[in-house]
Amino acid sequence: MRKGGEACYRRAMELFVATANAHKLVELAPALPGQVLRTPAEAGHPGFEVEEDGEDFLANALKKARALYSLLGRPSIADDSGLVVRALGGEPGVRSARYGSPDGGATKLGAAERNAYLLERMRGRADRACAFVCCLVLVLSEDRLFVVQETCPGLLLEAPRGSGGFGYDPVVFLPELGKTVAELSTEEKNRVSHRGRACARMAGLLAGLSAGA
Ligand code: IMP
Repeated sequence: MRKGGEACYRRAMELFVATANAHKLVELAPALPGQVLRTPAEAGHPGFEVEEDGEDFLANALKKARALYSLLGRPSIADDSGLVVRALGGEPGVRSARYGSPDGGATKLGAAERNAYLLERMRGRADRACAFVCCLVLVLSEDRLFVVQETCPGLLLEAPRGSGGFGYDPVVFLPELGKTVAELSTEEKNRVSHRGRACARMAGLLAGLSAGA
């Protein structure tokens, strides 16, 4: 142990993922190879939940990772992600999951309705630039933390295309690949997505920490 009770990580780290959604682990585990991911439930906190009321992705991810670290005193990781659209001043942004909700988020629209709402707001706009964003925060102690934030830039189509993926995938076109995100295989999406890119950078950081760097 280092001074201050902080561990020296020379092998796989046990990371607690700040989410109540077990599917998050299924998504993150292959992208963070060699690490042992645990849910708050495995540490006796099945009801762990944090209100995502931050102004940006970093604020939300930091809040969630710090909240779990405060609860457990163990290495904690959190992510926050969404879509930002330049012509809409960054909407839907941190409100990506609640976008278009008639009651401020209590009732969420389905993905198809939400995409229709977004495309309606974009009707007639020439600037179609958008990007998926993913922020990951790893908290190792009260004073030691790592942040990575990555993007997957694209263009908003005028109508959805493709049936893979989820959320906004069918309306985001990637010009270099000539496909929407919903037309990519899982492997292709993992390679180019905001989440895949952020996880690759975090995996590099974790490998360095595991090696004692
Ligand atoms: P969360 O950070 O996983 O809660 O994601 C917030 C919202 O952003 C989701 O409900 C989706 O609408 C959107 N989102 C995040 N990542 C993706 C993606 O890879 N594809 C499509 N939509 C996404």
